[in-house]
Amino acid sequence: MAVDPLIELRGVNKYYGELHVLQDIDLTVGRGEVVVVIGPSGSGKSTLCRTINRLETIESGTITLDGQPLPQEGKALAKLRAEVGMVFQSFNLFAHKTVLQNVSLAQIKVRRRRRDQADRRSRELLDRVGLLAHAEKYPAQLSGGQQQRVAIARALAMEPKALLFDEPTSALDPEMINEVLEVMRQLARDGMTMVVVTHEMGFARSAAHRVVFMADGRIVEDRTPEEFFTAPRSERAKDFLSKILKH
Ligand SMILES: Nc1ncnc2c1ncn2[C@@H]1O[C@H](COP(=O)(O)OP(=O)(O)OP(=O)(O)O)[C@@H](O)[C@H]1O
Ligand SMILES: [Mg+2]
Repeated sequence: MAVDPLIELRGVNKYYGELHVLQDIDLTVGRGEVVVVIGPSGSGKSTLCRTINRLETIESGTITLDGQPLPQEGKALAKLRAEVGMVFQSFNLFAHKTVLQNVSLAQIKVRRRRRDQADRRSRELLDRVGLLAHAEKYPAQLSGGQQQRVAIARALAMEPKALLFDEPTSALDPEMINEVLEVMRQLARDGMTMVVVTHEMGFARSAAHRVVFMADGRIVEDRTPEEFFTAPRSERAKDFLSKILKH
């Protein structure tokens, strides 16, 4: 695909004390591109995601979104967090608010929309993720897969330029994984720019434009899914794939 860079990391290094958790990371995510990040536990996948919407600071290198360096603080940082939505393993919905209120809240607080406008938009998005009928329920009344789809609708409500997913289906029972992946596939088809940390290799094969394989804080491979899955180059990737594809 012709690369019109939306997210760019250049020479990014991050430490947790002595631990060099991100090492010389160069990564470009094009507009409309879906990049799946895989790798062993502790390799730095979550940290990578968190640096992109600046939930974590970096020690050196640059990260730009749409050509602009990530803001350091204040209003600009709040705006960035809205522009780069994040969906986590745990859905982080407000338990005492309805599904509709969960999706509308940040639109009202951050985007300064009127409640009726926010609610209208929320209903559209809930319809898109197949949950309009559940708008007035509370999170605890929904299944895990439904709650995760609410979390996706909530992220979309901010009209993000990109969405980051950190193992969005890892906490779900197997029968609920697909309904979430299907929503993500639809987003990919609609042209959403997405960085997805996942162990779902079927999703990586079918929806990713590129697979980034990380090990020990480095990007070891960055290739098309076809190339990566049929002929991984590195020993680390071969070893990783042999372990996860076995079961
Ligand atoms: N806040 C923190 N303070 C110190 N060390 C941390 C912190 N967060 C993560 N680490 C360490 O950084 C390394 C990378 O962690 P990270 O969570 O990014 O890995 P990961 O690839 O997402 O792993 P997993 O597949 O288990 O989610 C690990 O060794 C982890 O223990
Ligand atoms: Mg992680």
